[in-house]
Amino acid sequence: MKKISVKTSRPYEVIIQRGGLSRAGELISAVTTSKKCVIISDDIVAPLYAETLERSLSQSDISSSLFVFPNGEQSKSLSTLGKIYDHLCSSNLTRSDFIIALGGGVVGDITGFAAASYLRGLDFIQIPTTLLAQVDSSVGGKTAIDISGGKNLVGAFKQPALVICDSDTLKTLPPQTLADGMAESIKYGMIKDSELFDLISDHDLSTIDQVMDQMVYTCIDIKRAVVENDEFDHGERMLLNFGHTLGHAMEGWHNYTNYTHGMGVAAGMCIMSSKTAPAEVTERLKKCVETYGLPTDTEAPMAELLPFCATDKKCLSDRINYIVCEKIGCGEIRNALVSDFNALMEG
Ligand code: NAD
Ligand code: GLY
Repeated sequence: MKKISVKTSRPYEVIIQRGGLSRAGELISAVTTSKKCVIISDDIVAPLYAETLERSLSQSDISSSLFVFPNGEQSKSLSTLGKIYDHLCSSNLTRSDFIIALGGGVVGDITGFAAASYLRGLDFIQIPTTLLAQVDSSVGGKTAIDISGGKNLVGAFKQPALVICDSDTLKTLPPQTLADGMAESIKYGMIKDSELFDLISDHDLSTIDQVMDQMVYTCIDIKRAVVENDEFDHGERMLLNFGHTLGHAMEGWHNYTNYTHGMGVAAGMCIMSSKTAPAEVTERLKKCVETYGLPTDTEAPMAELLPFCATDKKCLSDRINYIVCEKIGCGEIRNALVSDFNALMEG
């Protein structure tokens, strides 16, 4: 078992352990005295893993009730949030009880926001079951739902009480969903750790499981350090968005359908690198991205992507922050006039 202590305004631990799901009751009992919780999950993850979790909780005398919603980004909505509140209410959950998010980033984000807002806040525990959720969304306390105006526009910072990453749960992921998590893992290598980048480059989708716990640990530890320095996203935390400004634009250009976040991040990193980094850095990045079956470029014309970039959350007034990695393992934040950023991207 590996453990990472995250020292944010609300400190907590991330446990990385194969088989951790079946020890959840015991691990959770170490962080709460409550004997009552609600598990939130989706209709793909619940049939696979809810029973193991419920059994483990019950062995630690914790009673639970399960709320399941349809899988997918379209469920990260006000409508689902309302149903979650109703379920928490009918389960008579009090402020000393807790909620568990069992699933990918969609489950984690909406459950976290429910936990931040229901009864003005109660504890929640993240049990992330996608690679993206393990290395990124379950740690750091960003929670949100989508509204018609855009993704993640309503949310709160709410750190979990505990995160349990069981890499055995990743074995049931479809290859594309595993690849989406690899895009974020490659990102950590690019911005902070060339050895992590080398480790990832030396594997592919069929062999990465051999080093999964080591890779997940390293990615989360990078996120820990960044989040501890900038919990509320005013500075260094922007580094985590390498490839994301263009990536989000690509997701928007595709109307958030048939184009995943990981695809956007992968192509976004490669395009940004080709505009700002030495050719050998871009070549190594593209080779690594291709190894995981992710795109290195986009069919979307740059002129059609740039208007999406101008609405990015990293855009303030007429200036934009963007992330550059001139060397593998060394990300830096640059700030430019939107017009100069556009000229760089179109050049
Ligand atoms: P997701 O939660 O939609 O999961 C992807 C798919 O995999 C779903 O169909 C899900 O049912 C399925 N799935 C999950 N675990 C599985 C398993 N073990 N086996 C088989 N199938 C499984 O998507 P995601 O990629 O995990 O997360 C994306 C979401 O995370 C987005 O909403 C994004 O905005 C958010 N996000 C949040 C943060 C943050 O800091 N809070 C960071 C990055 C992304
Ligand atoms: N996923 C980016 C962040 O947590 O800041």
